[in-house]
Amino acid sequence: MSDMFSTPDMGHLGSSDYNHVYEPAEDSFLFLDALEQEHDFLAKLRPTVCLEIGSGSGVCITFLARMLGSSSAYMSTDINVRAACITRDTACRNSVMVEPVVTDLVNSLASRLAGCVDVLLFNPPYVVTPSQEVGSKGIEASWAGGVRGREVVDRLFPLIPSILSPDGVFYLVIIKENDQDEIEDIMKKNGFQMVVVKSRQSGPEFLSVLKFSWLPSVT
Ligand SMILES: C[S@@+](CC[C@H](N)C(=O)[O-])C[C@H]1O[C@@H](n2cnc3c(N)ncnc32)[C@H](O)[C@@H]1O
Repeated sequence: MSDMFSTPDMGHLGSSDYNHVYEPAEDSFLFLDALEQEHDFLAKLRPTVCLEIGSGSGVCITFLARMLGSSSAYMSTDINVRAACITRDTACRNSVMVEPVVTDLVNSLASRLAGCVDVLLFNPPYVVTPSQEVGSKGIEASWAGGVRGREVVDRLFPLIPSILSPDGVFYLVIIKENDQDEIEDIMKKNGFQMVVVKSRQSGPEFLSVLKFSWLPSVT
């Protein structure tokens, strides 16, 4: 877990909340560790807009807001209305401001934030499941990723070029089954280079945090 920056206080949430909203787990904690590792890069970037898609409990965007401070605006989306409420509560509990929005991916924000997002985060529903399980607005949306665990995130990839600012970066959590090499190819065609920030085996899951930044020839 993170040493330099503490994990947000989640003491306001209990098991009844986690029946409805994703409880921070190994994937979330790997994401926090990756963000902490990126601290110097992100501080130098001096972001003005940070957005997390699928904020769940709000642990990641709150961590980022505490790490980078109030010179940036912090926003989040989730398809699950309870996640939006809990994200707001988590931010308040940890003395930061996050503006949560209930929407699919970035749909209701895309035109307002076009070319403005400096830091984009997504720990998506990445588990391989039957396609019929994808598309819920409840707790199942936390994990159900459909074929190869890619059905949700594949809809986001084509939107990235229009959302990110010229110096913007996108951090994404994946598991091995999501096919990192194919994701790298897709994003390369969209104009982005990829690096693996952090990887960890957690039980049956081999998790990685990927970072995408514009290819030099594109910006
Ligand atoms: C694995 S959980 C991650 C939660 C939190 N970011 C964390 O790391 O603990 C995935 C989150 O994505 C949300 N989600 C799933 N599909 C979505 C969609 N199409 N648009 C926005 N959020 C979505 C889920 O409701 C859930 O909160």
